[in-house]
Amino acid sequence: MNTKNIKGFFEDCKTAAEEILENIKKEGFIPIFSHNDPDGVTAGSILAKAIHRAGGSFLLRVIDRLDETTIGEIKKIQSNFYVFAEIGSGYLDVLKELSEKSKILVIDHHRPLEISYPNLTHVNPMLHGIDGAKEISGSGVCYFVAKNISEKNIDQSCLAIVGALGDLQDRTKNRCLQGLNKQIVEEAKSKKLIEVTTDLLFYGRETRPIHKAIATTMNPFIPGLSGEEDECLGFIVNLGVPIKDGDRWRSIADLTHEEKQKIFSELTIYLSKKGFSEESIFQLVGCVYTLLTEDKWTPLRDGREFASILNACLKMGKTGVAIALCLGSRGETLDEAQNLFNEYRKTIGHYISLLLEKKPQTIIEFENMYLIRCHGIVDEKMLSPIATILSSSGGLNPNKPVIALTKTENGKIKVSARASQPLVDQGLNLGLIMQNATQETGGKGGGHNIAAGATIPIEKEEEFVKLVNQMIKKPP
Ligand code: C5P
Ligand code: C5P
Ligand code: ZN
Repeated sequence: MNTKNIKGFFEDCKTAAEEILENIKKEGFIPIFSHNDPDGVTAGSILAKAIHRAGGSFLLRVIDRLDETTIGEIKKIQSNFYVFAEIGSGYLDVLKELSEKSKILVIDHHRPLEISYPNLTHVNPMLHGIDGAKEISGSGVCYFVAKNISEKNIDQSCLAIVGALGDLQDRTKNRCLQGLNKQIVEEAKSKKLIEVTTDLLFYGRETRPIHKAIATTMNPFIPGLSGEEDECLGFIVNLGVPIKDGDRWRSIADLTHEEKQKIFSELTIYLSKKGFSEESIFQLVGCVYTLLTEDKWTPLRDGREFASILNACLKMGKTGVAIALCLGSRGETLDEAQNLFNEYRKTIGHYISLLLEKKPQTIIEFENMYLIRCHGIVDEKMLSPIATILSSSGGLNPNKPVIALTKTENGKIKVSARASQPLVDQGLNLGLIMQNATQETGGKGGGHNIAAGATIPIEKEEEFVKLVNQMIKKPP
């Protein structure tokens, strides 16, 4: 990998901004395609706002993947300039056809393919030795482009932080964003848009009763407590921590330092017994990102909760709600989003119980990995969180990555692969493995070293699984 060249990366962001401004002048209208996840919608929304502010009009469409079918759909929207946000770097070959008649701007942070062609402008931190899995998200890259369009767009820093949190880029030892993500946090702080504190990281720290906050937490997934409100209530009551202040339920934010310590120590004992490492237990404490411009008592005020809400909307197929939230709509939009979040949690809980019930047909230990066969159980949109949750649930050996598979609606196999940080530190690169394995079996794959994915032909499942198992031991 080349040495880190932040200056070079910022120059690329400036070039991208100049191209956008030039096309606003020339065309007025710019279509943006962004990836169907929280980092993708925040990335696309940051650009959309920047274009609108600069006097242009935009179309923002969220897409699951880039393949011939999607390209066909994109072509129906005629333009001389297309922008791809948080998607494209691994699929530059697929985009080539589109570049024959139009200019293409790809702003992404995934492992890039090493190709270039005329009419393509490609902005990616990985091209400058900056880690796109840990140091900056897709929305972060779009933020730096937007800032070059106008300094006004510094107010989009919060969305970039939400995108990075949605991509789990805070999975560091102290659960704080680092690298260029940290620079964005500092810029947001300087404009008094965000406050950073350290606390227990349960979902709804300020807005939910303590037991509900613990039960709602999925990252990390706490077996026996995540999704189990009654168990969580028992857990807190047994500790002697008052759950109510008069008639009012207390929240995590209401607890005293001593009470928080009590909960954390007890959870440490509980999780150690379940085989969690010290490092994964410490994932329960870290930087809290409070978005000061959001109303108090709403989940959007917490960066991680904002990301979870977006994720739920997208996974439940309501991309419009997610985009509307990013573009500033609240009120009924937020009510709908919260309902979607509750539905999403129930669905995830249901899938996890089914997979655990049907073990060992569903969770199969291989020499170098775990295979999670979700066929007929998990919908393709939900595969990604299922892979993330199972890989962090402590029940599996963290020295083996998790490779989850499910059948898609159009008769293919979708793959979601996840590794632990220590495995990545030892050199495992799932993005590269997904790219190379699909070159042999057909299909398409890519992503990051720690989290990657693919789509493969259904008849190639066995071959693909064998190949990946070999490649993990002997990297390509
Ligand atoms: O496409 P994109 O880069 O946004 O997706 C990153 C994916 O990797 C997200 O689904 C995120 O949850 C997952 N991830 C993970 N564990 C990490 C880092 C990322 O599961 N440590
Ligand atoms: O879908 P999932 O969240 O498991 O994907 C993990 C990471 O791999 C994401 O960053 C996603 O963009 C990437 N990916 C990819 N090509 C695929 C599937 C996933 O680059 N076919
Ligand atoms: Zn991303």
